[in-house]
Amino acid sequence: MKYEKIVVIVSSFLLFIFISAIIYAAAGLKIGLPTCITDIAPFKEGKVIKHTDQKYEVHYNSKMWAFDPPVVKIPKGATVDFYLTSQDVTHGFQILSTNVNLMAVPGTVNYARAVFNRTGEFDVLCHEYCGVGHQNMSAKIVVMEPDEFKNQENQTAAVNVPDGSEEKSDPDSKIDVNVILQQKACLGCHSVDGSPMVGPSFKGIMGRVEEMDDGTKVTITESHIRESIKKPGALVVKGFANVMPILEMSDKEMNAIVEYLKSLK
Ligand code: CUA
Repeated sequence: MKYEKIVVIVSSFLLFIFISAIIYAAAGLKIGLPTCITDIAPFKEGKVIKHTDQKYEVHYNSKMWAFDPPVVKIPKGATVDFYLTSQDVTHGFQILSTNVNLMAVPGTVNYARAVFNRTGEFDVLCHEYCGVGHQNMSAKIVVMEPDEFKNQENQTAAVNVPDGSEEKSDPDSKIDVNVILQQKACLGCHSVDGSPMVGPSFKGIMGRVEEMDDGTKVTITESHIRESIKKPGALVVKGFANVMPILEMSDKEMNAIVEYLKSLK
């Protein structure tokens, strides 16, 4: 009895210290829940950072089933530092014709450096099975002659800043559907040429009659598209798996996607 009492007192005391430490960490030291690496800059989105004309840094964010950024352009001779992470499962990352071969692991950042001494397109492939869209998961690195690179660089700059002023206040003001398609990785699962991939093709989707997995026939309208983006799985076309992720999309982005789909007759 005596010893039991001591055990109870000691364990209660330890438990009290433990809980106090947690409360102190959360309230006093402001240590919150651990954050996902893909929730914080600079790994929130894929990006290319130019240090000098010959030195670049690329942050790849991988997700089912695409790499962001999907296309990276650099000049011949450039040294590129690759930083790679994943926002969902483990992916592979191999740049063909180079010795860069990494794993994209959630919660970590992997690194490799490469020098590109010849022009051409280098394919980047996912070489770790990561689900139904695995075989479509790829990206491209385009190595250009320095002159050619400079030209396209100037052109892009001209497009981004039309009157020399930066429009930072409203990110929706210059919406580019291609950017949305990239960021949301739509084309990792939906083709634009009519061939079925992980999901139904985008080509001719508006007004198409599709058989749903419960056997009903539905003519796809704009509201079906909007509903399916907001609530993936609300409508699942027969023969396809219910694997579409939930995408956060602003109204403007949604409108841009709908207009884009209408245009793919
Ligand atoms: Cu990502 Cu396979």
